[in-house]
Amino acid sequence: SAARRPLIAGNWKMHKTIAQTQAFIADLCARPLPLDDVDAVLCPPFTALAAAGAALAGSRVGLGAQNVSWAEQGALTGEIAPAMLTECGVRWVVIGHSERRAMFGELDERVKEKARIALAHGLTPIVAVGETAEEHAAGIALDKVRRQVRAAFDGFADDEIARCVVAYEPIWAIGTGKADSPEEANAVMGAIRADVPGLRDARILYGGSVKPDNIAAFVSQPHIDGGLVGGASLEPASFAALLEGA
Ligand code: G3P
Repeated sequence: SAARRPLIAGNWKMHKTIAQTQAFIADLCARPLPLDDVDAVLCPPFTALAAAGAALAGSRVGLGAQNVSWAEQGALTGEIAPAMLTECGVRWVVIGHSERRAMFGELDERVKEKARIALAHGLTPIVAVGETAEEHAAGIALDKVRRQVRAAFDGFADDEIARCVVAYEPIWAIGTGKADSPEEANAVMGAIRADVPGLRDARILYGGSVKPDNIAAFVSQPHIDGGLVGGASLEPASFAALLEGA
């Protein structure tokens, strides 16, 4: 459906200064991009968001953040509120990335609160879920991911869930060069979609070693609506190739 137009979101993680971000955007936007057929989003670090928002003004490449606070404002040292993001032109936000869950203690409850406040500010949450290598080996990937998705959207109305994006990122496939097989990823993603009625028309992305040469195989699967991409989103030529592939 139209709501499930392919989406490529580049998660830059802790890469790129302001100057590097500006150089990337200038290079990318000088290229012919297939933006009639695919949505593109860049998620630079917080410090580069204002400059990125200015550089992307008037372009059809969207801007995302990699995290957001669960609160509007307050005594939360080091946190970033949703209004601070929208002021920079941010319209998307990654929530619950496995690196944040593993290294910054981000729990399901917080992921839910962040998705809720993001929606309230007109930000599209990209809720990341995924199983560890151990869970994958034990055959409980789907149980894990289903639990994470249900927890993230607990208490949400279907039409609220429909405004969100889910990113399925098997943790063992992130940054390893060992992507999941498109068929296996599709099976997990289809099961998530079937489990949560609000996700019927929502986009579900695959993440984990997505590259220009494998993105087409992923998006050709019925339940894979694009990619959340780390390493391969860091160079303009590679990001442009991902958009072509999608
Ligand atoms: O959020 C995207 C990321 O975790 C995947 O990273 O480098 O395997 O594309 P990468």
